[in-house]
Amino acid sequence: MNPYPFIHPKGPSLSTTYDAHDTYLLEGVLPYVDFIEITPDSIFRRRNGISEIQPDILKDLLSVSRDVRFLVHGVGLSIGSWEGFDASYLDNLDLLLPHIDCAWHSEHLGYVKVGGDNLNTMLAVPRTDAMLELLIPRIKTIQSKYGMPFLLEHIVHLLPDYQPEYSDAGFLNLLTAETGCGLILDLYNLECDAHNYGFDIESFLAELDLGAVREIHIAGGAEYLGYKLDIHSGKVADSTLNWTRQALAHTPNAEAVTYEILPEAVRLHGAQFVIDEVARISSYFNFTKHGHQNTSGNPAAADQNAAVLCAG
Ligand SMILES: [Fe+2]
Repeated sequence: MNPYPFIHPKGPSLSTTYDAHDTYLLEGVLPYVDFIEITPDSIFRRRNGISEIQPDILKDLLSVSRDVRFLVHGVGLSIGSWEGFDASYLDNLDLLLPHIDCAWHSEHLGYVKVGGDNLNTMLAVPRTDAMLELLIPRIKTIQSKYGMPFLLEHIVHLLPDYQPEYSDAGFLNLLTAETGCGLILDLYNLECDAHNYGFDIESFLAELDLGAVREIHIAGGAEYLGYKLDIHSGKVADSTLNWTRQALAHTPNAEAVTYEILPEAVRLHGAQFVIDEVARISSYFNFTKHGHQNTSGNPAAADQNAAVLCAG
């Protein structure tokens, strides 16, 4: 029996990031994607001390809600912080989810805060039993709170590992086995680690329980001072596409391949660059759009959304 109850009968679909108001971009990628990835940390703003979704972005999302489902991919949860994850991230999630048909939500297996201070970067968690004890109940809390699939993404290693008790894949396997959470497999992250310190991608993929992978991330970055940077700033390299093709052959439950690009890079290159890249990736993998019917099971959401659109 397959332990992961999320097999997509039609195979994986394409997805891409939408984090800033740009209707030309949104309409341009729509023919190619079944999912749109949104990051709460980017689309929320604080106004008069209150957190709210930027109204123009919400309006954009609602305008395509009959065509795509949404993948909510956070940055600020900091699930690996010793003092606890950042509850304000979940507060934003609480505000966002009633408006959209979210297929699943996800975060990074790392931490961005120490003692309440923001690191302005993200660090990988130590792969130890102590960290497993800390993470497993947190994952279960999030799973039971939202009642939808929750995925974790492995991240690049900016610092040497702290006395690891498990391999990278072994640690992820334990987390998925203990909690039933899914995984995001990010091939570009793996390539950064391979380039920067000789990480063995093949061994990692051979050891990882690939049945837990529900989403694959791809991106194109840059090199600086000899390091490959985990920055989503450009076109996807042929090597990343090749790794993804290999991975897809062994990830039977992967439902989405997400091309990630930062809003800053969209501004730099222009929306047409992103549309062209999404079209190229779609063609490379021979993806077809499956189409989407609102299956959120939440009829109230449709009414709320209609009201928001009318008010907007
Ligand atoms: Fe990623």
